[in-house]
Amino acid sequence: MPVRYGIIGCGAIAQRRHIPECAANPASKVAAIADPVKERVDAIAAKYGAKAYTDYKDMLKDPNVDAVVVCGPNTLHASQSIEALNAGKHVLCEKPMATTRADAQAMIDTANKTGKYLMIGLNQRLMPPHVRAKEILASGKLGKVLAFRTAFKHPGPEGWAIEGAKSWFFKKGQASMGVTGDLGVHKADLLRWLLGQEFTEVGGFVSTLDKKDQHGDLIDIDDNAYLTFKTAGGVIGSMILSWTNYGAEENYTVLYCEKGVLSLGTDPVYGVIVNYRNGDKEMHKVGEMSTNEKQVPSGVIDLFTKSIESKTPPEIDGIEGYRSLDAILTAMEAAVAGKITKIA
Ligand SMILES: NC(=O)c1ccc[n+]([C@@H]2O[C@H](COP(=O)([O-])OP(=O)(O)OC[C@H]3O[C@@H](n4cnc5c(N)ncnc54)[C@H](O)[C@@H]3O)[C@@H](O)[C@H]2O)c1
Repeated sequence: MPVRYGIIGCGAIAQRRHIPECAANPASKVAAIADPVKERVDAIAAKYGAKAYTDYKDMLKDPNVDAVVVCGPNTLHASQSIEALNAGKHVLCEKPMATTRADAQAMIDTANKTGKYLMIGLNQRLMPPHVRAKEILASGKLGKVLAFRTAFKHPGPEGWAIEGAKSWFFKKGQASMGVTGDLGVHKADLLRWLLGQEFTEVGGFVSTLDKKDQHGDLIDIDDNAYLTFKTAGGVIGSMILSWTNYGAEENYTVLYCEKGVLSLGTDPVYGVIVNYRNGDKEMHKVGEMSTNEKQVPSGVIDLFTKSIESKTPPEIDGIEGYRSLDAILTAMEAAVAGKITKIA
């Protein structure tokens, strides 16, 4: 029997990734969808033969739902995930898993208490160039990583979100964080995973430079961040995040290692390029990375489905989500304080 999913929030990520990916996998099924916007949820539920709910609380009582995908506004992630876990559902929660450390911890505690799985949608780890990079680093061919620079920059979520510039993404009460929470948490997670080390210190600038809401007013959350991190093993690196890159999206990472340089997402054809210190060069053509303009399957639902079916706890769990969130919350606190700050 396929894993029967209930989706909370049927906006951009649900319609472009989670729902089609769930429907495409014979091991999973879109059983129900909940969204307060009735016309939206009715239309999408009808398209996929799922049951429509305008209140997710009603959907959580549905015995035909085994697992829930939480993919609405950031500030709702924690409470909805906790309610779903308490209702006996496994939970795949979008990033950032929560907007405070206390909420993230409460999600982990509830998953532990109920014995239900909690996975966080930190999909950068699954993108083909990043998977290949992890293999190359694990092979030891490049030696230790010494430093990195990474960037995630696009023109802003208004070109992506279902309600455009009116979106919750630009409302502090619903988003809590701007680009640092949106794209930074992806990059913090990717680097923690690639390096196999925790971040220990961070500092930098987090600013609102240009992004306007639907009224033409400057948003009251961050649209740019320029950060510097240090890891437990002494790796240092820079992270640039932007919602005001009014050109082609950038999602690249360069790792400077003892025996060469590993470049990911810097070339449109070769997702992974290795320049060895001895002059050798490797060009790897691997699968593409998803961008806001071009969707490729994320693999997130497939991985969670496999985890549920095989009764194996998900690797990208609440603790991983917490650590990536903690690095980003600390970065934002460090920017306000204007000093390099330790990550707990
Ligand atoms: N992993 C990724 O790469 C990735 C990419 C995009 C978005 N996301 C995350 O997914 C989440 C959703 O983003 P999006 O781009 O789909 O936003 P969106 O604005 O396009 O859609 C959000 C949907 O949530 C619905 N909603 C609002 N309140 C709700 C409630 N109380 N109950 C149920 N639904 C409710 C809205 O009506 C809307 O349909 C965000 O947390 C975002 O950070 C992750």
